[in-house]
Amino acid sequence: MADNKAFDNDLGEQSTSFSNVESKEEPVKDTDFSNNGFSTIKIDDLLEKQEIPKPYAGMPKEVLLHYSRKKHFVWARNIMTAAVILTILTLLSLVIALIAISPGCQEFWQTSPIYQIYPKSYADSNNDGIGDITGIRGKLDYLKDDLGVEMVWLNPVYESPQFDNGYDIMDYRSIDPVFGTMNDMELLITDLHDRGMKLIMDFVPNHTSDQHAWFNASSDPDHAQHDKYKDYYIWVDSKDGTENGIPNNWQSVFSDVEKSAWEWSAKRKQFYYHAFLKQQPDLNFRNEAVLAELDGVLAFWMDQGVDGFRCDAVGFMFEATHLRDNPLVDPTLNVNILYSSASYTNVYPDYTEDQKGIHDVMARWRALLDKYSTEPGVYRFMETEVYDDVDSVIRYYGTPWVDEADFPMNFRLIDLEHASAWTGTAIETTVLEWMTKMPAGKWPNWVIGNHDQPRVVSRLGKPLAICAAFLTMTLSGTPGMYYGEEIGMEDLPITNPVRRQDFRDPVRTPMQWDTTENAGFCKNCTPWLPLNQNYAIGLNVEKVDATSVFNIYKRLINLRSQDTFLRGYLCMVYSSAKSVVYVRELPGAVSYLIAINFGDSLETIDLRSAYSFLPGAGTLYLSTTNQAVTTIPFNSVTIQAKEGLAIQFKPGGNLFNKQANMAGKCFTSKKVCLNGIGILQHC
Ligand code: GLC
Repeated sequence: MADNKAFDNDLGEQSTSFSNVESKEEPVKDTDFSNNGFSTIKIDDLLEKQEIPKPYAGMPKEVLLHYSRKKHFVWARNIMTAAVILTILTLLSLVIALIAISPGCQEFWQTSPIYQIYPKSYADSNNDGIGDITGIRGKLDYLKDDLGVEMVWLNPVYESPQFDNGYDIMDYRSIDPVFGTMNDMELLITDLHDRGMKLIMDFVPNHTSDQHAWFNASSDPDHAQHDKYKDYYIWVDSKDGTENGIPNNWQSVFSDVEKSAWEWSAKRKQFYYHAFLKQQPDLNFRNEAVLAELDGVLAFWMDQGVDGFRCDAVGFMFEATHLRDNPLVDPTLNVNILYSSASYTNVYPDYTEDQKGIHDVMARWRALLDKYSTEPGVYRFMETEVYDDVDSVIRYYGTPWVDEADFPMNFRLIDLEHASAWTGTAIETTVLEWMTKMPAGKWPNWVIGNHDQPRVVSRLGKPLAICAAFLTMTLSGTPGMYYGEEIGMEDLPITNPVRRQDFRDPVRTPMQWDTTENAGFCKNCTPWLPLNQNYAIGLNVEKVDATSVFNIYKRLINLRSQDTFLRGYLCMVYSSAKSVVYVRELPGAVSYLIAINFGDSLETIDLRSAYSFLPGAGTLYLSTTNQAVTTIPFNSVTIQAKEGLAIQFKPGGNLFNKQANMAGKCFTSKKVCLNGIGILQHC
């Protein structure tokens, strides 16, 4: 309080002094203060005469400026200014250096497995026998908290007459009532995002439903908008002017139900092309208006908050305009057989698949998705569905100059259809092929099942299916998971023709949540497909059994979330008829040796004789047969029949990727390491 008083007094004195000065001193005029003539003010004189108190806070600007010109103040000021600038520059350089050496966050499509939900079969909230969006919303805690996945891919839920379970879209911008409403969809997106989860939608560009408004207008010359839509689809004249004059031998992929890929339109008196069902006419990608429409569809869903797309059947987007017959696999085959009961495998699809133009469209969509990926934390993911040889599929990553998909789905492990194909050497070859052909810096992916393929347990048997999961979860890249895989669900042979509508129905039966009536899929209802009667394989049972498929999946997903698996090198170190062995290592972190035996009997491997730099032993971290944690000597690694092992060890600076004899066998997307203080950085 005393200080405050003094302050008040000082101010009082000061203003008094100034009024005194002005009234007493003739030469000091008002104009002197305002015309930059500060030097003319006799302040020093005044100070000497003690008419102005010593400088202190609250002094007028003129006085302050006067003192600030004094040499020692100027020096002090310059030194302080320099210090501030230096500090700012140092901090800035530090930030830039940190950004430069840190490897950047990984995207959601790299950190989480992709969990595929077949909406009709996942969870039925209104008990009408068909799964729905609200049902899915009720299972998000299961996915995120119990299982540990953060990325969901939803098969089509758009309005559709359902000839191909939603892959025949009537309106790209609306939700089919069997699945719910647009509002349900918005809630699903919000619920996912609230949990830090992401949603991938199926994008079906190749074809629409024949009930789509575009097709109605295109196929009907009397339609008011016929002119606008007439070139939206692939229309071709009949060879003889009648419905018998099929343009060529092009086959539908669904050649078990379709005779030809051409369907006659009685209204338009022309044929339209359909790579799949006749209810799925192919769009004309040589029409810019069609491309613009599809851009609009992508933009619409990105505006709704969707995090990316699985682009369906993109290898079929163009057909050769010359309309030549596809070459016959067996040139002696009677061509009429093709036109009647066709088999897609009888022809090489040289003019109907993988045509010029596809990659321009993919690059266009990638660029559009990039435009919607500029906000911090937002990235729109793209994956493609193409069944072809590795070289053609790999092309969908784009080129070093033009990006396309974040990854094309890798079906090579699905191609190893039967158990007999799963040898250690076949797996090593399969992995090496993708990893060596994949462009530098790109990201791999591995899937063992989906809604079009027999379930992995049905193809390989449960013990081998677990080994397959062990493989996809521990390789580098993103693993795919088809719903139910995590509890070992199997195909259901559906013999009743009324109940089986599609040749793929056996792999699409309702999710087996528990062992109650209808496996907890719906209550007092008839599920749209019969339930597999083995639903003793129910999630509730799996959860409490420490050795269950579910618990192995859970532990694998958890293991995969370590930096070593997300970022580390993959080095293929050994293969035999039975087993494959590889190492996951990240400089600065512990390494893991993964050993999987796909065979019917145990194998013991001496890894130290080939890799003498390996330490003497490692510690068993995870075994699919639930072996107790134990020390495993590397000169005698025993893998039981159909067992996967993850063995942790300290590399002690002897990394596999540094060894000359490992050239061409070690891979990493981006080189990173943990520095001495445990920070991840480029290296
Ligand atoms: C894709 C889908 C498949 C569908 C087909 C036609 O291959 O995965 O289910 O039948 O495209 O859209």
